[in-house]
Amino acid sequence: MDQPERQSHWDDRYRTSGADSVSWFEAEPRLSLELFDLVGATPASSVIDIGGGASSLTATLQQRGFADLTVLDVSAEALDASRRNVDSPDEITWIRADLLDWSPARRWNV
Ligand SMILES: C[S@@+](CC[C@H](N)C(=O)[O-])C[C@H]1O[C@@H](n2cnc3c(N)ncnc32)[C@H](O)[C@@H]1O
Repeated sequence: MDQPERQSHWDDRYRTSGADSVSWFEAEPRLSLELFDLVGATPASSVIDIGGGASSLTATLQQRGFADLTVLDVSAEALDASRRNVDSPDEITWIRADLLDWSPARRWNV
């Protein structure tokens, strides 16, 4: 599968099912939050959610005071849905990119 096919595949998954009806949807990202605690992440930590999709993780972290948040996903459909779910979307960095072709311009703590 090449990059345009990956984007189209994931856009179709979100478009046809709806962001909260995809098979991997969870209302509360409980395990991810437990892992954040285990690695000692705090609201001062910078975080990137790679393949973040329309997950509620970023919205939850923003509500907990995390201020340096980035979401990367190949699917524009997923990022649009995620953007609608957060309180302050303009305070988050959204990257529509394919991880396999992407070179980070900075570093993150988590
Ligand atoms: C199974 S979903 C999980 C989404 C989210 N992490 C969650 O838990 O709801 C996988 C996500 O990875 C994204 N993805 C798949 N391949 C990717 C790639 N090569 N580059 C960037 N994102 C990718 C998809 O668009 C999708 O949003």
